[in-house]
Amino acid sequence: MLDNLETVADLLRDADSVAILTGAGVSKESGIPTFRDALEGYWATYDPEKLATPEAFERDPELVTRWYDERRMKVRACDPNPAHHALADIEAALRARGRSFLLITQNVDRLHQRAGSEQVVELHGCLDRWRCTKTGESTTDLPAPFEEYPPTSAHGGLLRPGVVWFGEGLPPDAIEAAASAAQMCDLYFAIGTSGVVYPATGLVMDAKRHGAICVECNPDSTPVSEQFEYALRGPAGTVLPELYALAFGQDQ
Ligand code: OAD
Repeated sequence: MLDNLETVADLLRDADSVAILTGAGVSKESGIPTFRDALEGYWATYDPEKLATPEAFERDPELVTRWYDERRMKVRACDPNPAHHALADIEAALRARGRSFLLITQNVDRLHQRAGSEQVVELHGCLDRWRCTKTGESTTDLPAPFEEYPPTSAHGGLLRPGVVWFGEGLPPDAIEAAASAAQMCDLYFAIGTSGVVYPATGLVMDAKRHGAICVECNPDSTPVSEQFEYALRGPAGTVLPELYALAFGQDQ
């Protein structure tokens, strides 16, 4: 695997169609923990079985909704970091040149949108939208924080966070849009993701099968690193602004 920022910047400048998958590593420099960091990751401190499954919600809706509401409040207090801004800049530069672009995120924090990204597909939902378990209706019009746990909707059903839990399917529209972007692109990136959660991780295989060049941006290697032709080894908040500057900086 090659580590060459300048070559990847050339590829980015010339690409007709770019698909980018992001994960929790992109938000780490905003102060939001990743999931699998051995010391500070959410899943080092908390048991996903007790918090991120439909069974956990059924067993203890108070605990689960309190935990997601705490995350919702924490994310609101955080700001997009240079990685989010660079991705929004890359999208704007590509779209100004008439190129096709899609940002596919596993993150539920909406920091990409707050940084100005427009073409965003949320594979795992988002923390700001909750759904009534009685009617299936979703809403973003919620007290922040909730006044009681578990919160209830106006229809008397329990409200659950609009995120995808382990054991649940991804929103069909989102996974279809992501797969189609991966299959159409000529340059594919996976940034700040550990590569262990499917189907998001499988997108690189889709991209490769259809001839895309694939780039991984992560300070560490991952179990799927060998799928990528290029590795950008460093924190996304440093690497992505450099990538943007090399690819498009002189044109601005
Ligand atoms: P993980 O916590 O599994 O992985 C985060 C990745 O980010 C790791 O590979 C780190 O090396 C990398 N990383 C750390 N700091 C970074 C930085 N500054 N810049 C770039 N990369 C950095 O998070 P995800 O891969 O997003 O799902 O996890 C995937 C899914 O598993 C999540 O969406 C969540 C989780 O369980 C659900 O909750 C359904």
